[in-house]
Formats: sequence, structure tokens, C-alpha cells
Amino acid sequence: KSILIINGPNLNLLGKREPTIYGNRSFVDYLKTIEAMFPEVQLRYFQSNHEGELIDKIHELGFEVDGIVINAGAYTHTSIAIADALSAVTAPAVEVHISNVHARESFRHHSYLSAKCKGVVVGLGLMGYEMAVRYLMMYEK
Ligand code: DQA
Repeated sequence: KSILIINGPNLNLLGKREPTIYGNRSFVDYLKTIEAMFPEVQLRYFQSNHEGELIDKIHELGFEVDGIVINAGAYTHTSIAIADALSAVTAPAVEVHISNVHARESFRHHSYLSAKCKGVVVGLGLMGYEMAVRYLMMYEK
């Protein structure tokens, strides 16, 4: 199986960015851990700070991979275009947020993406990505 992990804006700064909220670990370092955890899965990773690039990647791989794990960062709360891209492709998606967005500012409580996803993992730190990958590995369309 192959699974695409997409991180949106500012998530390239994980480890450095507001560590009390997002932790001390970089995503690239964490990715090595998940790769070792799921040797049978081909993990593809993409990060961009640009909305259109996230959409292009969903179009490019979203008909081919077996699942998409997406943390769209702040675009979660603003982007109808990313939501439409998830609807357009065939791969099932799971939305992940590292922090518990429901315990934060009210503008983080709404997601345009959740309705297009099989499920949402929120507030469990980086472990949320592992859980999403595990779910998508067993998901049958
Ligand atoms: C986030 C939560 C968003 O509200 C925020 O804009 C992010 C990260 C999270 O993983 O907790 O950039 O998606």
C-alpha cells in the first residue's frame, strides 16, 4: 500500500515553531520513525506553504495512493479549494492536527476538510499521523 502524508503551511518549522504547542521534534525526524514502524507501506511525504501546491499534489497522487493523511495547517480553517481537491480524488483521507484545535481559539474550531475525510485525529501530537496511517492501511474502499 502507499500512503501520502501532506503537511501544509508552517509545518516545515515543527520542532522550532511554538514548541509548547507543537513539540520539539522535526517532522523529517519523526518521518523516519513512522517509516520504520510501517515497513510494508510506501510512505510519500509532501510539505508546502502554498495552497495551490497542496492542491496540485492531491491531484497528482490522489488517484494513485491508497490513502492521504493531511494536516493542512491554517488552510484547514480557510480553504474550500483544498476541500474540493479532496472530494475530487479517489483516495480516502484522514485529517490530522497535532494540537487540540478545540481547546484553542474559536477560529480553529471549524474545518472545511473534515466533511471530506473519513475521520479526524486531533490533539494527540505527532502520534496522530501514526494512527491515521494505521487506519488507512486497513481501510478498504
Ligand atoms: C494545526 C492547527 C492549526 O490551527 C494551525 O494553523 C496549524 C497546525 C495542528 O496541527 O495543530 O498550523 O493544524
